[in-house]
Amino acid sequence: MLKSVLVSTVWNLWTIPICLAAVYSNFTDLPSKHYDFVIVGGGTAGNVLANRLTENPEHSVLVLEAGGTNIDAFQLDVPFFAGLIKFQYDWNFTTTVQAGLNNHSIFMLRGFVLGGSSSVNGMFYTRGSADDYNRFASVTKDDGWSWDALQPYIAKNEKWEPPADRHNTTDPMVFEAVDELGGIFHFNEDYNSGKPLGFGWLQSTITSEGRRSSSATSYLAPEFISRDNLDVLLHARVSRVLPSPKSSSSKYAFRTVEFAQDLHGPLLSVSASKEVILSAGVIGSPHILLNSGIGDTRELSSVGIKSLVDLPSVGKNLTDQPATVQEFLVNSTTTNDDILRNATLLNEVYTEFNETGMGPLVATGGSQIAFFRVNQNLTDMFGDPAAGKDTPHVELFTGNGAFGAPPPTGHFFQLGAALVSPASRGSVTLNSTNPFDPPLIDPAYLTSPFDIAAMREALRIIYRYISAPVWDGYILSPFGALENITASPRRTAMSAKDADYGVVDPDLRVKGLRD
Ligand SMILES: Cc1cc2nc3c(=O)[nH]c(=O)nc-3n(C[C@H](O)[C@H](O)[C@H](O)COP(=O)(O)OP(=O)(O)OC[C@H]3O[C@@H](n4cnc5c(N)ncnc54)[C@H](O)[C@@H]3O)c2cc1C
Ligand SMILES: *[C@@H]1O[C@H](CO)[C@@H](O)[C@H](O)[C@H]1NC(C)=O
Ligand SMILES: *[C@@H]1O[C@H](CO)[C@@H](O)[C@H](O)[C@H]1NC(C)=O
Ligand SMILES: *[C@@H]1O[C@H](CO)[C@@H](O)[C@H](O)[C@H]1NC(C)=O
Ligand SMILES: *[C@@H]1O[C@H](CO)[C@@H](O)[C@H](O)[C@H]1NC(C)=O
Ligand SMILES: *[C@@H]1O[C@H](CO)[C@@H](O)[C@H](O)[C@H]1NC(C)=O
Ligand SMILES: *[C@@H]1O[C@H](CO)[C@@H](O)[C@H](O)[C@H]1NC(C)=O
Ligand SMILES: *[C@@H]1O[C@H](CO)[C@@H](O)[C@H](O)[C@H]1NC(C)=O
Ligand SMILES: *[C@@H]1O[C@H](CO)[C@@H](O)[C@H](O)[C@H]1NC(C)=O
Ligand SMILES: *[C@@H]1O[C@H](CO)[C@@H](O)[C@H](O)[C@H]1NC(C)=O
Ligand SMILES: *[C@@H]1O[C@H](CO)[C@@H](O)[C@H](O)[C@H]1NC(C)=O
Ligand SMILES: *[C@@H]1O[C@H](CO)[C@@H](O)[C@H](O)[C@H]1NC(C)=O
Repeated sequence: MLKSVLVSTVWNLWTIPICLAAVYSNFTDLPSKHYDFVIVGGGTAGNVLANRLTENPEHSVLVLEAGGTNIDAFQLDVPFFAGLIKFQYDWNFTTTVQAGLNNHSIFMLRGFVLGGSSSVNGMFYTRGSADDYNRFASVTKDDGWSWDALQPYIAKNEKWEPPADRHNTTDPMVFEAVDELGGIFHFNEDYNSGKPLGFGWLQSTITSEGRRSSSATSYLAPEFISRDNLDVLLHARVSRVLPSPKSSSSKYAFRTVEFAQDLHGPLLSVSASKEVILSAGVIGSPHILLNSGIGDTRELSSVGIKSLVDLPSVGKNLTDQPATVQEFLVNSTTTNDDILRNATLLNEVYTEFNETGMGPLVATGGSQIAFFRVNQNLTDMFGDPAAGKDTPHVELFTGNGAFGAPPPTGHFFQLGAALVSPASRGSVTLNSTNPFDPPLIDPAYLTSPFDIAAMREALRIIYRYISAPVWDGYILSPFGALENITASPRRTAMSAKDADYGVVDPDLRVKGLRD
């Protein structure tokens, strides 16, 4: 126990921009309107693709990103600020009224900046179980998605570094409690090994210099962004992909991308000779497809959109992982709470961070993560939405302080819980024919009986955990009501080539279109 050090993964390390020659903010400055590949969305996935495709000097690539630059945005750079909501870099989406949340609508955070959600997220590096990937392989009938087949790519994506700084206030107690309790509370040296169950040290996408590593800081680092064959256009909000004439084929090809820099200004366009790649995220990608007439024909025509390709799964099966946090009042003064309510202290630790790359701001404030399965009586009763017996239903994460907005006084220990294998399924649909209007986002949180029971069980796990003797005299009492459910959605859109549902095939090509 406790022999492992806290480690973090970074993809690459660049903090100072050297050259931004290929990042444009104005369409008129763009050197070309025709590229081999046009990537829609310079987010987590988009920038990886931009990087890999431009390894081949024969390929010209344009990335269209709706948001602005990540450079010089200290809120994005400082790991500790990850938990603060930064509307300037967000899409400002809210969900539809959620029956499972007492008819409330909640924010659905999504990054609106180069790097996408990887520029604003919590930087938890969590991979999913081997079962999860093997289920992708079996659902899509493509073994390339299996855990074993993906290992070379996982290895290519990772670069391990020790953490910039270590904080030790609650760390020893967190693992002492695990030892004391036993059973489902056991140490797991590496929860990214394919077998996540147990309690482990959090792995984060933070550099050894204590900076956020996003797809923008890594895959668009100076040595890559300076490639002659890579251009990025910021403030480019894509509305639709446009079809070429059907010609001899019975299917449409989509090679033109329509966008605007000023939502009330002219529509602009660029074209791709090889492929248009949609990587606008779990909300943006289905939104663009639906705007383009690719979706459920009946639903599109009821909104007033002419359907070009009847693909009923677009925007369906939206799967999100609801999460909540519980705070506990503690008998301590060495938590992180004061940093967010004492400007003098914040200035001190920021100066330390800026000058030395050390101090409390180099981490997110919690150093452990844990994964559990719910009691078998629940899976017996409702069925098991998880991909296999090594696959968790519940994720727990620790915080040495109340994050986001700590109450005016007091010191806290925080335990967050997320449902990582939820059964509820929601949707993204159009609300109007204006492609720049937000879509209707319905994650259908806690609408399945399994999810409701599993969330209750997650809270039981939290209370069992804090009952460990080591917390006596430290954790004094639960504090306040549970915070609002927050979430980060995913979508299962992939199906086998011959399946009668799904949006993309195992090669991630949209079904029903000409290649
Ligand atoms: C606040 C928050 C915390 C999170 N914490 C974690 C965490 O700790 N660990 C973890 O593993 N996951 C976390 N996630 C989830 C994770 O970050 C996302 O699953 C992942 O980044 C999604 O990648 P993506 O490429 O699909 O989309 P994104 O990274 O969101 O990229 C989509 C990009 O497309 C752009 N775009 C969208 N629409 C358009 C359009 N019409 N025109 C042009 N551009 C467009 C967006 O601006 C964005 O840059 C978190 C997410 C959020 C929001
Ligand atoms: C883009 O450049 C053109 C020509 O220089 C200018 O007229 C226009 O205002 C610029 N647009 C923006 C959004 O800055
Ligand atoms: C979200 O709101 C903030 C202001 O609160 C704004 O700066 C930002 O541009 C908005 N995002 C979008 C996508 O409009
Ligand atoms: C939620 O709204 C529905 C439909 O309007 C209503 O029937 C239901 O009673 C509401 N539930 C709560 C908890 O308010
Ligand atoms: C953390 O560890 C260091 C070095 O062992 C020690 O000096 C410091 O007092 C510890 N801090 C806390 C809050 O336990
Ligand atoms: C949702 O996914 C399931 C498989 O998990 C599939 O059977 C169903 O057809 C999908 N629904 C839609 C509308 O695509
Ligand atoms: C705020 O932090 C400073 C610097 O650490 C400290 O001197 C001061 O006492 C703190 N103020 C309060 C109200 O705790
Ligand atoms: C951070 O450090 C840089 C130089 O190292 C300096 O220019 C900048 O002003 C500092 N920022 C703050 C907010 O102190
Ligand atoms: C499942 O089992 C647990 C513990 O054994 C018990 O507390 C819980 O009430 C049971 N739940 C149901 C739905 O039977
Ligand atoms: C959907 O459109 C209606 C009518 O225009 C509007 O009142 C509502 O706010 C829109 N919903 C969203 C989520 O934008
Ligand atoms: C707080 O901790 C101190 C020792 O660290 C202990 O003496 C005291 O009893 C604790 N207070 C409570 C309310 O448990
Ligand atoms: C929680 O949700 C309620 C109801 O939607 C809202 O009034 C409140 O501001 C939310 N609190 C936070 C911290 O987001």
